[in-house]
Amino acid sequence: MSESPSNRPKRLLLGVTGGVAAYKSAELTRLFVKAGYDVQVVMSEAATRFVAPATFQALSGRPVFTDLWDNRIDNHMAHIDLPRGADAILVAPASADFLFKLAHGAANDLLSTLCSARDCPVLVAPAMNRQMWENPPNLRNVALLRQDGVHILGPDEGDQACGETGLGRMLEPEQLFALVDAFFQPKVLKGLKVLLTAGPTFERIDAVRGITNSSSGKMGFALAQAAFEAGAEVTLVAGPTSLPTPVGAKRVDVVSTQDMLTAVNGVVSKTDIFISVAAVADYYVLNPSEQKIKKDAHILTLELAPNPDILANVAGLAAPPFCVGFAAESENLLEYGEQKRRRKKLPLLVANQVQSAIGADDNEVILLDDHGQHKLERAGKLDIARAIVNHTAKLYREYHTKS
Ligand code: PMT
Repeated sequence: MSESPSNRPKRLLLGVTGGVAAYKSAELTRLFVKAGYDVQVVMSEAATRFVAPATFQALSGRPVFTDLWDNRIDNHMAHIDLPRGADAILVAPASADFLFKLAHGAANDLLSTLCSARDCPVLVAPAMNRQMWENPPNLRNVALLRQDGVHILGPDEGDQACGETGLGRMLEPEQLFALVDAFFQPKVLKGLKVLLTAGPTFERIDAVRGITNSSSGKMGFALAQAAFEAGAEVTLVAGPTSLPTPVGAKRVDVVSTQDMLTAVNGVVSKTDIFISVAAVADYYVLNPSEQKIKKDAHILTLELAPNPDILANVAGLAAPPFCVGFAAESENLLEYGEQKRRRKKLPLLVANQVQSAIGADDNEVILLDDHGQHKLERAGKLDIARAIVNHTAKLYREYHTKS
C-alpha cells in the first residue's frame, strides 16, 4: 500500500480535463486505487463530455466534483476544501487550455481555482494534437509551468486520435502511475549514478542452442525502478529478458557474460553505486559452432571455460563504486552469502533463496553487511527493491563520511 510519511494512504487529487485521453484516466484511477492511494477526482466541464463522472466515482469510490459552487461541500468552498490534505495534484489529461490557465493563474472553474489555492505539488500529463503541442504559446506556457515548479509528465510521441502522428499523446496509465509513485519516494540517491546488471546471461553452443541461468530479470528491473524513484541516474545492463524497460532507466541489452562485462566496463568509471543482480553464466562454451549442430546418437561433449567475474572485477578496481552483490542459494543461505560477500570484498550482499526468488513476483531477502544481518520479510519485488535502495543509501553515506 502506498503511504504518506504519517503512514496514512497517499492522497491524490486527480484532475481530468477535456480530451480523448480522459478515458485512459479511468484506468489510471484504478491503478492508483489498487496501489492503496486515496483518489479524489475533479473534472472540468469539457472532460465530462468525454467520460461520465459516474465512471470515476465508481473507480475511486468517492463523489466526483466538477463545479465551483457544488453544494455537497457545506461552506461552498470546494476549491479550498478539496486540495487541503492532498499530497499531490495530478492533472491527466491536461489540455492546452488547462496548461494556459495554470501557467497564468486563472481561477475561473473548480480545477483551475483549486490549483491556485493548493499547498502541494502539481504534476500535469499533457495530451493534445501535435500542432497544438508545438504551438509557440503552448510551449511558452509549458516553460512557465516548469519555472513555477510544475512537473510535466510527457507527452509521448505516436498515433493520435485525430489520425496524425507526433508528439502530444498522453503517457500510458502504467507509465503515469509509475512516475507519480516514483515522485513520492524519498530521494535518498539524488545526484548519484547507479549501474545495475539484471537477468541471465546466455552462452552460445551453436546457432540455436546455448547455456544460461534461470532469472526472469524481475528483481534487477525492480531495483532499477527503485533507484530511479530514489533520484538516481540509472543504467541497466540487461541479459535476455522480455521485461519492459523500467521508467527512467537507460537500458543496455546484452547476451553473453563477455557482452555484460564490456557494457559494465563502459560506464563503471562514472558510477557511484554498482548493484549486481544478474545471474551470470560462470562458464562459456569454447569454440561454439556457427551452424546448428546436427543431432545424432552420440554423446556430445562441450568444453567450457570460466567467464570473468564482473562483480569481483568492479569491486577490485583501484577506486571502485559502492558495490552491492546478490547471492541466490539453495541451502546454507547465510553462510554461503557471507562467504561470497567477504570473498568479493563487498560492503553489502543481498542473499535470497533460489527456490522462492527466481521468476517470482515477490521475494524475501537477508541483507548482509559489516553490521550484521537484516531480514526483509516476503513482499512484492518493488517493495523489497525500495527497502534495499534505502539500506544501500544509508551504507553509502556511512562509507563516504568515513573516507
Ligand atoms: O531475475 P529474477 O527471476 O527476479 O531472480 C532474481 C535472482 C534470484 C537471480 C537475484 O535475486 C539473484 O540472487 N542474483 C544473483 C544470482 C547468483 O547467485 O549469483 P552468483 O552467486 O553466481 O554470483 C554472486 C554475485 O556475483 C552476484 O551479484 C552476481 O551478479 C555476480 N557475478 C557472478 C558471476 C560472474 N561471472 N559475474 C558476476 O558479476
